[in-house]
Amino acid sequence: MSITPDPVQMRLTAYWDRWAAEYDGHQMGRLARQEERAVWERVWWEVLPEHARDLLDVGTGSGNVALSLARPGLAVTGVDLSGGMLARARAKAEDHPCPPHFVLGDAVDPPLPPGSVDAIVSRYLLWTLRDAPAALARWHALLRPGGVLVAVDGPWFAHEEELPRGTARQDHFAAAYDADAFARLPFGRAGVEEIARQWTAAGFVDVRADPLPEVLALDRAHGVAPGHAPQLQYRLSARRPG
Ligand SMILES: C[S@@+](CC[C@H](N)C(=O)[O-])C[C@H]1O[C@@H](n2cnc3c(N)ncnc32)[C@H](O)[C@@H]1O
Repeated sequence: MSITPDPVQMRLTAYWDRWAAEYDGHQMGRLARQEERAVWERVWWEVLPEHARDLLDVGTGSGNVALSLARPGLAVTGVDLSGGMLARARAKAEDHPCPPHFVLGDAVDPPLPPGSVDAIVSRYLLWTLRDAPAALARWHALLRPGGVLVAVDGPWFAHEEELPRGTARQDHFAAAYDADAFARLPFGRAGVEEIARQWTAAGFVDVRADPLPEVLALDRAHGVAPGHAPQLQYRLSARRPG
């Protein structure tokens, strides 16, 4: 397993470790609604290959996307650098009929062999992903020919405004995600067109970005993760040539 002792990454991971309970609490509250689960089921399965056997969720966090996708015949692996987030994911997996495998690892270089997955998904990772070109090259190699890459994200911090401070979490976020950190996050302030351009440059084909107004409606009705404001999110999808 290759885990880069990168000082900026360590700061970001420490943030997710510390706030894992609050983050997951918000997510679990949202997932208690059938409507929420149905919308996300559509978001993923509209573009995932129906007969996928192996799926990787990069930046899985507390595992909710991996847990929702896992089903008979589909082996799901979730990778994250935050032990605090993974502990929550693993606890929930105990009651799951087809538990995903949750692994401590770097999304930039996931600890899986080349050509071993049919699909890679991620939600809310791209904005905080360092070394995006290296990650895209690695994901391309991990996919089997014809395999699919899907990522949902939004322009959470696209504008260089002063980050809110005052609570312990806000202060921690502003300290972890300072200007040096954002300078290391290629998609941190990028628009969807720029992200799609980089996916194409990495060799992916059929790159498309679909807006998700139904997710925005849910966010407006039920609130987003602490520290975020509702934004129109996009589902980017693409294929490794077959
Ligand atoms: C906003 S959370 C999203 C979690 C989850 N995907 C979800 O939808 O709830 C971002 C996650 O990305 C993880 N992360 C950020 N950079 C990472 C990297 N290079 N490798 C693995 N995980 C990373 C963080 O630890 C955190 O759990």
